[in-house]
Amino acid sequence: MALSARKLHPLFAAELTGIDLRRPVAPAALSAFRAAMDEHAICVVRHDAPLTNEQHIAFSGLLGPMERGPAPKIAGTGIRLPHPEIVDQSNLDADGAVYADGDRRLAYKRANRLWHTDMSFYAVRATYSLLSAHEIPVVPADTEFADMRAAWDALPAATKAEIEGLKAEHSYWHSRVLGDGPEPTEEERRTRPPVRHALVHTHPGSGRKSLYLASHASHIAGRPVEEGRALLRELMAFATRPEFVFAHRWRTGDVVIWDNLCTMHRATEFDDQSYRRDVRRTTVRERDPAAVDA
Ligand code: OGA
Ligand code: MN
Repeated sequence: MALSARKLHPLFAAELTGIDLRRPVAPAALSAFRAAMDEHAICVVRHDAPLTNEQHIAFSGLLGPMERGPAPKIAGTGIRLPHPEIVDQSNLDADGAVYADGDRRLAYKRANRLWHTDMSFYAVRATYSLLSAHEIPVVPADTEFADMRAAWDALPAATKAEIEGLKAEHSYWHSRVLGDGPEPTEEERRTRPPVRHALVHTHPGSGRKSLYLASHASHIAGRPVEEGRALLRELMAFATRPEFVFAHRWRTGDVVIWDNLCTMHRATEFDDQSYRRDVRRTTVRERDPAAVDA
């Protein structure tokens, strides 16, 4: 069956049919999928049962070099999903129980409720994220997305002229503290030093200009920190106006793929003490980071 896309929002986002991410995807179908991503930036693929971790990893690997976390720890040490490619975005501990309210690991997940783009704090940026739904609460627990190309298009000409050519400094620690996490120690800071990225770039997939923003962006290089921070706040507010935002209402078996180079996203609030939400993410990078470090 040929791939077809049904638009979910006037500006971006589409639901794809004619592709099943649980089965091997032929090269022609993969090219059609990439073209759909380039156009819509957010694609939803629904399945009647969740992907297994192996199926999720296998499809993600077709899209580029995958992010791999630290090697899985041995059973009983707190890891629920023993796959270095999968980021556990659930509110569940290693035994499958809901995290207690004060748990630091839950606080960390809640930082996803700030508008962000995945891994902008790395020099080698993330391209696609693939979030797979295993268990979804009966209450709404949507993910919201904003189109940074549409936001750029809509900016006043004077703002465009002012911000083109600027670089933003991104730091993992900035968003942790914004999300009410603890201040990092100097030693922690050194493990993830800040990086700089162009604030406006040409989105490789579509050739359209796009903002590149995130909760990890702390200030503007070469400008006083407070001034840069104010500019970033203003741009974030503009770029996440309701007309640029699409909310995905999850069902078990959904996989949502987004392009981090031209969108932002955030989790929304739900009662994470009463309801289980099991969503799992893989992430694809612009290029193999190991090759850069070598
Ligand atoms: C993510 C993320 C949001 C959500 O997986 O990168 O931000 O709604 N998830 O779980
Ligand atoms: Mn995210």
